[in-house]
Amino acid sequence: MSQVRETESHGNEEVREVTVETRDLTKRYGDTLVFDELNVEIEEGEMFCLLGPSGCGKTTLLHLIAGLEEPTDGGVFFEDDRVEGPDYRRGVVFQDPHLYPWRTVRGNVEFGPDVRGEKPDSEHVDHLLRMIGLEEFEDAKPGELSGGMAQRVSLARTLANDPELLLLDEPFSALDAMTQMKLQDELLALMGKLDLTAVFVTHDIEEAVYLGDRIAVMGDGGEGIRKVVDADVDGDRDSEEFAEKKREVFGLFKEEIQDD
Ligand SMILES: Nc1ncnc2c1ncn2[C@@H]1O[C@H](COP(=O)(O)OP(=O)(O)O)[C@@H](O)[C@H]1O
Ligand SMILES: [Mg+2]
Repeated sequence: MSQVRETESHGNEEVREVTVETRDLTKRYGDTLVFDELNVEIEEGEMFCLLGPSGCGKTTLLHLIAGLEEPTDGGVFFEDDRVEGPDYRRGVVFQDPHLYPWRTVRGNVEFGPDVRGEKPDSEHVDHLLRMIGLEEFEDAKPGELSGGMAQRVSLARTLANDPELLLLDEPFSALDAMTQMKLQDELLALMGKLDLTAVFVTHDIEEAVYLGDRIAVMGDGGEGIRKVVDADVDGDRDSEEFAEKKREVFGLFKEEIQDD
């Protein structure tokens, strides 16, 4: 298994592979229709954001891609194979870091290989601890960490499994604004270095525009994905291009408010 995959050149001529595809994906919980016959493709190497109000089905869609939930109808395909259950190649990062309090920082990062009965690759773990800036804290226990540090450990623990796809469910929403912005930048840097594809759930328009290559705007009441917007804008939050993209995405929600 490769530790750090080399990033291929992303020239214009390159056709991007589809990493995840949903085919007529329908999910109900009893009488609640979350979405109906949803079709979406997530391309290799992109950061694909799921943006929408609380209860619209973002977590449900992420869990279906992870294999933590079963479709009511249709299916999810990961590299052309039907998703039938969880797989560490699709790593999940939750809003709450869920660290193991009795393990050290290093012990938490080594958790995945440990439970699979593999000897953790100490160089890889060192590398991850350095990338998240916590090499000095490797012996600390989760109780000694700030919220931002704990979420970094949670991210590193998922990355220690060497996933191809990272699935993140509002991972920074419980953190203060400054820490959020720092972690957003760290995540973008990690994505580039590790050649990852990611699905990032958020209800924050600015976060989606900053992070996303594309944003799927979702509606509630069974609507599913209303529109997929290109959001490959420059990373300057103060630029006119950035503000314009935020307005465009916000406009997609305004329509809904006016329609009601
Ligand atoms: N395990 C469950 N059982 C019943 N209903 C659920 C369950 N999980 C989610 N739902 C319902 O499905 C809808 C979508 O929920 P969710 O995916 O958590 O939304 P979001 O993450 O966008 O806030 C909501 O109406 C929610 O109440
Ligand atoms: Mg959710």
